[in-house]
This record gives sequence, C-alpha cells and structure tokens, in this order.
Amino acid sequence: MSAAIEVRDFTFRYRGSSVPALRDVHLEVKQGEVILVTGPTGSGKSTLLRALNGLIPDFYEGEAHGVVRVAGRDVLSLRPNRVATFVGSVFQSPEDQIIAGKVGRDVAFGLENLGWEKEVIAEEVDRSLEAVGLGDLAAQETSALSGGQMQRLALAGVLAMGPQVLLLDEPASELDPRGRQEILGTIENLVRSESKTMIITDHRLGDLLGVVDRVVVMHRGRIALDGAAREVMARPELRGWGVEIPTAVRVWRRLIQLGLDVPCPLTPEELVDSLVPNGRNLSDALEAAA
Ligand SMILES: Nc1ncnc2c1ncn2[C@@H]1O[C@H](COP(=O)(O)OP(=O)(O)OP(=O)(O)O)[C@@H](O)[C@H]1O
Ligand SMILES: [Mg+2]
Repeated sequence: MSAAIEVRDFTFRYRGSSVPALRDVHLEVKQGEVILVTGPTGSGKSTLLRALNGLIPDFYEGEAHGVVRVAGRDVLSLRPNRVATFVGSVFQSPEDQIIAGKVGRDVAFGLENLGWEKEVIAEEVDRSLEAVGLGDLAAQETSALSGGQMQRLALAGVLAMGPQVLLLDEPASELDPRGRQEILGTIENLVRSESKTMIITDHRLGDLLGVVDRVVVMHRGRIALDGAAREVMARPELRGWGVEIPTAVRVWRRLIQLGLDVPCPLTPEELVDSLVPNGRNLSDALEAAA
C-alpha cells in the first residue's frame, strides 16, 4: 500500500528568517496510521503541518527544498483550498475556526462552498456532528458553545469534507481541563471508528500515548525520534529536550533506577498493572526490589 504521507529531504526557511524551521525532514506515514508529533516550543511541529496542508508556500512564504506528498499528490505545488479537499486541518484556537452563527450552518459552510447538493449537505452535517458528539446541538448558537464544544465543532467541519488525512495542531492546548478531556475523548473515538490517517501535535504527551500508533519527537527542526510510543518514551535523551514526560513514565524511570524490571508504561493503569501482577501487591514488589 502506498504511503498516505511522504516527506523526503524537506527543508524550509520562513521568508525573513535566517535559520530553517525544518531541516532534512523524512517522514513516511501509512494509510490509517495515527501519529503523535511532540517536541518543545519552536521545534517545528506546526511548520511540518503547514507543509502538509499546503499553507506552505502559498500562505507561509519561504524557501522550500525536498518532497512533500500527501495521498500521492505534490501538495507544495497545489493551492491550499485544493489541498483542503483531501487534508483536513484543525488548529489550536477554536474560536478562529468557527464562521457561522449556528452549529449546523457552520459545518455546512465548507460543503456549500464546494457546491454540494442540499440533501447531501444535510446528511453530512448530521453525520459529522454525531461523530464529535454534538448531534443534539445543530440548532444551537455557536457563541454559546464551550471551548471544548467549539473545538469539536471545528473537527466536525473538517470531517464533513471527507478528508483522507486529518491534521490536528495542538487541538487541546487552549482549553481548560474539561474541554481538553472532551476533545481528546472525541479524538480517541474517531481513531477507533474511522480509518483516517491522522497526525496530532501536542506538548503534553500523557493523554494520547495509548491511542496512537507512533510517536515522533521534533527537536530544532529535525525529527529526532520516530517509533512506537513505548520505545520513544523509554529513551533517556527526551529529558534534555524540554519534552514533557508523563507522570507514569517518570515514576517508571525511578523504579528502574531502583532495580525493578518492568516495561515502560503508556498510562498510569499500565504502570499499576505491571507492578501488581497476579495479585502481588505494590509494597511487596517494591520490597523485593529494594
Ligand atoms: N510565520 C512565521 N514566520 C517566521 N518564522 C516562523 C513562523 N512561524 C514559526 N516560525 C519559526 O519557525 C520555528 C518553528 O516554529 P513552529 O511554530 O513550527 O514550532 P512548534 O513546534 O509548532 O512550536 P509551538 O510548540 O510553540 O507551537 C521557530 O523558530 C519559529 O520561531
Ligand atoms: Mg505549534
């Protein structure tokens, strides 16, 4: 099967900037794969997504070298509105992505621009709102939505366009803890129910580790690590790069220093399960290790 996303030797420098924001990036993503891209601020996560959704070089001008193909197409040479028909993007500020006054109208907006028939639009609006758990709110004013609901609405808007690839740039970073849980839960459901290729960026690693197929860590414009979540999380160099390490992984690092031989956990539940297998209790395990 051909790769859904193929980035080869890609280097990009924003106009007016003296250093490249991305350097020699190689990334191959299979169809249906779900990837978490993390890395400290300024490491190039958003720039990578802007190269994939066609905003580079039309909207973000600069010097680009290398290959960026999505769904087999050279997106660097396509207009962003063309790319938007097969690559859906959701960004971090929910309110910037809401256009219409009513929830249902907002989802319909992009489809109306594509000239779709009314009945098809109505079906797609219902299906997409249902997929993000806003099925009952089609008639609601968008201004009355919470941050988490707005972000779910933005996601419904891109889902309605039927993209093969979804790019979510820090979709939860501007939300309060409740809104964050809402959007992450919605993303988790989508990953399970749809077979879309997805790239999600996030500073905070903990919540999605158990959901994604792969984790990519960016550092100073390069892809520094790329692998299964468990392998990447176990790598000691993460600490020096300003990547936030989930609590379960930090506790695990301490435990292996104490001599306990347990696999790197992706969730707090996994950590507990690995420490108390078959009814053994935590204090016995720690005592045995001491
Ligand atoms: N529009 C722009 N013009 C010029 N330089 C930019 C622009 N956007 C980003 N940069 C620079 O490109 C580099 C990568 O930035 P980018 O926004 O891709 O990082 P990021 O990993 O998404 O960071 P954050 O976690 O803060 O969102 C940084 O040095 C940044 O200052
Ligand atoms: Mg960013």
